[in-house]
Amino acid sequence: MNKHRLPKAGTFQIVPSVLSADFANLASEIAQVTAVGIEVVHLDVMDGHFVPNLTFGPPVVASIRKCTDAVLDTHLMITHPETYAERFAEAGSDHITFHIETVSDPKAFVKTLRGLGVSVGVTLNPATPVEAVKEVAPLCDMVLVMTVNPGFGGQSFMDQAARKCIRLRQLVGPEVRIEVDGGIDPTTIGTAKRYGADTFVAGNAIFGTSDRAAAIAALRGAIEK
Ligand code: DX5
Ligand code: ZN
Repeated sequence: MNKHRLPKAGTFQIVPSVLSADFANLASEIAQVTAVGIEVVHLDVMDGHFVPNLTFGPPVVASIRKCTDAVLDTHLMITHPETYAERFAEAGSDHITFHIETVSDPKAFVKTLRGLGVSVGVTLNPATPVEAVKEVAPLCDMVLVMTVNPGFGGQSFMDQAARKCIRLRQLVGPEVRIEVDGGIDPTTIGTAKRYGADTFVAGNAIFGTSDRAAAIAALRGAIEK
């Protein structure tokens, strides 16, 4: 299956998370954001083990794949991502992010993911230090800094966690994207940008509102300030 690629580093991207969307109408929810130029959509996969919540698996990704050309940025909040990665790649994920807390040999897993034809992300929980991803981050296309404890949308942005972007940017240079996820809204996105993030996941701030185009415009405006 031909994969879509993440937009090249150096551009700011707002990445809507469908976690706060209407799951019975994902096609039209996603169409509303791609209509205003969104290129990447974030899919939160939760297993009830690594995080205390459940969402969806490969069959839903396959259905989403059929209805959009957006880059599918798949955030695996699951134990044993090695067991499931291939199924997500086959379902149509373009980019797969795994949690450093869940994998015993992260460098080997990066290779496995590349072999599946997807681009690769590694992420770390707010309590996990940058040191944990020091070696693997430069091998990835994107590093995801969790700015809430994963599991639920609509939580408050954790500034202390976001500050890890500063050190990560020094580590990975300009070519690796740094994505932030959790509590991103027009009041916090500028802070994340100043710390070095260039890719901003937003769930509640977009799909929690009725006018998605206006919500995205507000986020874009706040990035430019
Ligand atoms: C949280 C998820 C996020 C979530 C963000 O565990 O990883 O992607 O959708 O939601 P907001 O933007 O509402 O904090
Ligand atoms: Zn996420």
